[in-house]
Amino acid sequence: MDVTVNPLRAGLRLARVPDPAAMVIFGGTGDLASRKLLPALYDLARQRLLPQAFTVVGVGRAELSDAAYRKHLHDAVAEFSRSRPIDEDVWSSFAERLYYVSVKSDDGYDDLKRRLADLDREVGTEGDRLFYLATPPSAYATIVRSLGRHELAHNDTGRSRIVVEKPFGRDLESAHALSRTLQEVFTEDEIFRIDHYLGKETVQNILVLRFANSIFEPVWNRRYVDHVQITVSESLGVEGRTEYYDGAGAMRDVVQNHLLQLLALVAMEPPAAFDANVVRDEKVKALRAIRKTSEADVAERAVRGQYTAGFIEGERVPGYHELAEVAPESHTETFVALKVFVDNWRWEGTPFYLRHGKRLPKRATEIAIHFRTVPHQLFTPEQREGLEPNTLVLRIQPEEGISLKFGAKVPVQGVRIRSVAMDFVYGASFLVDAPDAYETLLLDALSGDATLFTRQDEVEEQWRLVDPILSAWSESADAPPQYAAGTWGPAEADAFIERDGRRWRQP
Ligand code: BG6
Repeated sequence: MDVTVNPLRAGLRLARVPDPAAMVIFGGTGDLASRKLLPALYDLARQRLLPQAFTVVGVGRAELSDAAYRKHLHDAVAEFSRSRPIDEDVWSSFAERLYYVSVKSDDGYDDLKRRLADLDREVGTEGDRLFYLATPPSAYATIVRSLGRHELAHNDTGRSRIVVEKPFGRDLESAHALSRTLQEVFTEDEIFRIDHYLGKETVQNILVLRFANSIFEPVWNRRYVDHVQITVSESLGVEGRTEYYDGAGAMRDVVQNHLLQLLALVAMEPPAAFDANVVRDEKVKALRAIRKTSEADVAERAVRGQYTAGFIEGERVPGYHELAEVAPESHTETFVALKVFVDNWRWEGTPFYLRHGKRLPKRATEIAIHFRTVPHQLFTPEQREGLEPNTLVLRIQPEEGISLKFGAKVPVQGVRIRSVAMDFVYGASFLVDAPDAYETLLLDALSGDATLFTRQDEVEEQWRLVDPILSAWSESADAPPQYAAGTWGPAEADAFIERDGRRWRQP
């Protein structure tokens, strides 16, 4: 053993450098590329996790030289990298691998093809391609078909993969159609549907917590679990992306993907191997076991809301309807609460309450497993006045960690019981910053590992669950119930869980 290694850092060095590749980003000057993709790639370069032979070719409509593109990205990376200020030496050698090609019409794809072939020769990328669709979804089909028509998608020497950003469709039918379009040119194994929540360390840790430990799984079922609450709460509003959001809403933006993925990871059966298809098979089985919501059940199983003006951390924030580009009659939901049942042997009768909203009091994503109370009480109601049922909380973000709440005797004469917490905090146990989700997922896509990407059947199951609710809401003439910014959603959301004799946990 290397005795000079701090035990808290042991095992943290990852040697996983993928093979040479050219990454082609459609939407190369857009928001996603500037805020997430290039900062993540720079951070990978800083950690020496990119292959020697690696290039990024940004594609966009604007006319830009390579130098101007590099300058644009320098400023973006300086603002959004997780290791600021940036290291200018690392940047200079990274920037040498960044190129730009303007594609305004179909002919532009021939320019792109020539540029990639030249770079293969100069840099040694050997024909390996990672295409990334970071454009608005309306452009996906044209790009994919052009890649096929211009024989860019595949070549004789390298492998090809394509990463597709969410939202993947806007309902089951359009998601299915998009998969069909992609499959005209790429095989399903080459298609990487990204859900950045799966790249978060704490989300991956759900699998580790459940399946690398023996003490949780025996109680992870209907016999011991009373119910589960999954919360994705955001204090931010939708400023800057109102146009997209007003057409999408909270259900399509977060619930259909991030929240249902969290649910699948909590509810799934143990996979037989840590292998992309085996893990995804189990997630799909869990999603398939979710009880379908007919339009008649919507009022009982789902609540939506829309925020009005309010206060967040003492500051007044405008209501959703005050934002420019929000249609005056918009019924777009900014809050969703759902009650979901997973009808299988493990979970029959155990409700999963899911909640997501914008402009809630704080940013907090967590999964809380609420256990049943003891079958027989030894202690009087006075003695256990401060006792709450056992709860295991997986804090996904911020203050990443896991906490187990249980009852303990207050150190006074006689018996008094109070709930206390046993806490694991990432920052204290591991002295490194967690990688950004996009770093993990880009490295996986470059390495061809699809475990943390969603498969066609998963995405379609997710739409199958939310479609009836969305269509009931869109057919209703009623406006969504309102909640003031800085509160935990509409009163209807409280009534919804209280009807079952339960309460929302405050993260
Ligand atoms: C994105 C949504 O997919 O996820 C955003 O489009 C949301 O609306 C974001 O804010 C949340 O991601 P994170 O990583 O900040 O929790």
